[in-house]
Amino acid sequence: MTQTQRILVTGATGTVGRQVVAELLARGHEVRVLTRDAAKAAFPAGVEVVEGDLTESDGLAPALEGVSGLHLITFGGAAFTPLETGPRILELARSAGVRRITVLHGGGPTPLEDAVRADDGVDWTVLKPVEFMANALEWADGITASGEVREPFVARLSAMVHEGDIGAVAAVALTEEGHAGQEYVITGPEVLTVADKVKTIAAAVGREIALVELTEEQAVEQWRAAYLPEDVIGFLLEVYGNTPEAGRTVSGTVEKVTGRPARTFAQWAAEHADAFRERS
Ligand SMILES: NC(=O)c1ccc[n+]([C@@H]2O[C@H](COP(=O)([O-])OP(=O)(O)OC[C@H]3O[C@@H](n4cnc5c(N)ncnc54)[C@H](OP(=O)(O)O)[C@@H]3O)[C@@H](O)[C@H]2O)c1
Repeated sequence: MTQTQRILVTGATGTVGRQVVAELLARGHEVRVLTRDAAKAAFPAGVEVVEGDLTESDGLAPALEGVSGLHLITFGGAAFTPLETGPRILELARSAGVRRITVLHGGGPTPLEDAVRADDGVDWTVLKPVEFMANALEWADGITASGEVREPFVARLSAMVHEGDIGAVAAVALTEEGHAGQEYVITGPEVLTVADKVKTIAAAVGREIALVELTEEQAVEQWRAAYLPEDVIGFLLEVYGNTPEAGRTVSGTVEKVTGRPARTFAQWAAEHADAFRERS
């Protein structure tokens, strides 16, 4: 067991940040979280909540006081706009004496990540998860309403990762030696097609689920109807149609860093089965 440390987690109400918080608490550390709206956020007991906005970096100094580690997201706002304040956040972290930083990679270069990589005064680790298992929750409405998943590129391969494992890798990198300067591709333990995922959810829920393959045009129509921005639609067509090798190759990072095997999609589906059950 490492010594208790105090860590600031940004993005802590998000899919990954919540898991970083849970994994740090499970390892006995003190957790402070940053959120733009404390009244809307719910955190486990014992978590210290500080309000702040990463796009207004000058207000962040109090949140950084007395923490040894910092988990960062690279964006601000609902459109995932890259944080121009990244370099300033790094300056503030350095002045506050932060020793370790993890960054949740956002898919491309950002001023924040560039500033972190250029900083030789802190031990930084870049976390590069592949597709989150939680993305399957987007199928919940279709499954509960009509027992269907409607997707393009159904043969595409994904080494999707359990969000809890991203949190676990972050928690270790933030509190233990040996992870400085690493760029960790974080995957699950197996490579699955869309059909494999649908079968796994069907088994967990105990009902049949049909997989309806969409053409690219039908998928774009469906995403536009769900108000996805055009740049997100372009990104989805690219990664679904042309998944990079890293996205469909098991990396082994979870076991190497945490000492525990990566969680399977069957485990994830069992934990989330209720989300796919008919609502009465
Ligand atoms: N989905 C995938 O398959 C996948 C795969 C790899 C990487 N990623 C990357 O993962 C990231 C998204 O992570 P996520 O899904 O965990 O996020 P999320 O669930 O969308 O949550 C967004 C978080 O960002 C915080 N936030 C947004 N703007 C903020 C601001 N201006 N100041 C402070 N906090 C702010 C929100 O906090 P409050 O609302 O509480 O302030 C919230 O906690 C993206 O960079 C994405 O590229 C996603």
